[in-house]
Amino acid sequence: MSKNFDVVVIGGGPGGYIAAIRAAQLGFNTACIDEWKNEKGGPAPGGTCTNVGCIPSKALLQSSEHYEHASHGFAEHGIEVKGLGLNLEKMLGRKNTVVKQNNDGILYLFKKNKVSFFHGRGSFVKGDANGYEIKVAGAAEETITAKHVIVATGSNARALPGAEFDEKLILSNTGALSITEVPKKLGVIGAGVIGLEMGSVWRRLGAEVTVLEALPTFLGAVDEQIAKEAQKLLTKQGLAVNLGVKIGAIKAGKNSVSVEYTDAKGDAHTGEFDKLIVSIGRTPNTIGLNPEGVGLKLDERGFIAVDGDCKTNLPNVWAVGDVVRGPMLAHKAEEEGVAVAERIAGQHGHVNFNTIPWVIYTSPEIAWVGKTEQQLKAEGVQYKAGTFPFLANGRARALGDTSGMVKFLADAKTDEILGVHIVGPMASELISEAVVAMEFRASSEDIARICHAHPSLSEATKEAALAVDKRALNF
Ligand code: FAD
Ligand code: NAI
Repeated sequence: MSKNFDVVVIGGGPGGYIAAIRAAQLGFNTACIDEWKNEKGGPAPGGTCTNVGCIPSKALLQSSEHYEHASHGFAEHGIEVKGLGLNLEKMLGRKNTVVKQNNDGILYLFKKNKVSFFHGRGSFVKGDANGYEIKVAGAAEETITAKHVIVATGSNARALPGAEFDEKLILSNTGALSITEVPKKLGVIGAGVIGLEMGSVWRRLGAEVTVLEALPTFLGAVDEQIAKEAQKLLTKQGLAVNLGVKIGAIKAGKNSVSVEYTDAKGDAHTGEFDKLIVSIGRTPNTIGLNPEGVGLKLDERGFIAVDGDCKTNLPNVWAVGDVVRGPMLAHKAEEEGVAVAERIAGQHGHVNFNTIPWVIYTSPEIAWVGKTEQQLKAEGVQYKAGTFPFLANGRARALGDTSGMVKFLADAKTDEILGVHIVGPMASELISEAVVAMEFRASSEDIARICHAHPSLSEATKEAALAVDKRALNF
């Protein structure tokens, strides 16, 4: 195997493995180094996303939703379930199988695209515009060289000071995805994306979940109207979300964790939990990379400093994904990975930050793209809004899931779509239409004129677009 490469990618998460595949497609002799190990010590490429993020969380969200339907939802359809049981071991086993299928899929894709894979930790040794030496510390140690380096080393869960993760009682996302017995009382610190998704999983499986959030508003980055609706729906399901709390001492005992906190009124409480998930954001990961060895610049928060094109301060060194600025999302990492490979090839790689969709996979799902109403107000943009509730959508009624709405925000003068916000069934799929529309700079009238299949949830999207012009037909 050649040890001299045109492109070496450090990190095999969605940013890294996709960058490596695209670079190989473009004709570069490419290697990808990833250190993630499966439980047998073998390679498990795919990063946080595949191993302890997007994929296993969605597997458990699906399983727990089936369980909730079987225990509460089916009766309404005339389906009687007797003797319902939960085999958590099997559920976790299925999740692990789904993860492994994805790990194996990536190894297959590397072979198919002739990407050389190195299992181990990659670190900079030395280099300049003529090339870089990178040490790979795996089962053996070796050094490879690269003309271009793409760093995609991802992120780690942020711990609360004084409450380090032990993954037994105080859990990051890693532990939260592998609890072997449904906790009676589960505490969650942080009502962000992970807190709501993992809180939903364990609530559906029977835990009493208390979420403690520092900010006074629920999902502050989400359109206010949508966030309010989501808060109402999730609270009704039994997720106890406490806003405006201040966390004090956290003490792990033998079998439980106590959390001291004051609520929004300033009253003091102590929560006793069987498990505590801490999901208060993530920090960029450059552990073991040796950026200082080659003078690779980090910013004041520890992210690798890059320009709009993902170029670092070093010639021919690029960085993508969670380890650089911008939203920590798998599809954002992938887009950057593709764009960088294309830039290395002298092409015009492109990432449109205005049209990166967000999805929170609660039930109902929350999805959005573009600006929120509060952002447009703050920017002084004149806009029109149109909303349509799923309550008035025939397919949603047939599904038995009529919660939520679709909301369009369009420029008051030009009618260009500025943002689309959804809380409701299959919002993760529905948002794609809005992303396409915004990428093509469509107007709300464009969507309103397009024929949508009946009966489908996507008709709610069309109706919300019609509502911008106050001409919804079914509401
Ligand atoms: P990572 O996926 O973190 O991959 C980095 C890889 O680099 C890892 O394999 C790591 O082991 C390896 N590495 C690091 N340093 C070195 C080194 N020196 N040498 C060799 N290898 C190294 N995003 C979504 O878009 N949708 C979701 O539904 C979603 N769900 C999530 C759920 C959870 C619980 C979590 C925690 C995250 C979720 N995310 C989701 C976020 C998503 O996982 C990240 O945005 C994404 O994984 C970032 O990709 P990346 O390639 O930048 O980094
Ligand atoms: P987050 O940024 O989404 O939420 C963290 C929450 O914790 C915020 O609401 C914040 O106000 C709160 N918080 C911070 N410090 C606190 C404190 N001391 N006490 C109480 N609350 C505190 O981060 P999270 O949930 O950890 O997820 C990390 C990232 O992973 C997400 O931002 C997202 O980028 C990615 N992710 C994406 C998913 C998706 O796309 N569906 C799913 C899960 C994670």
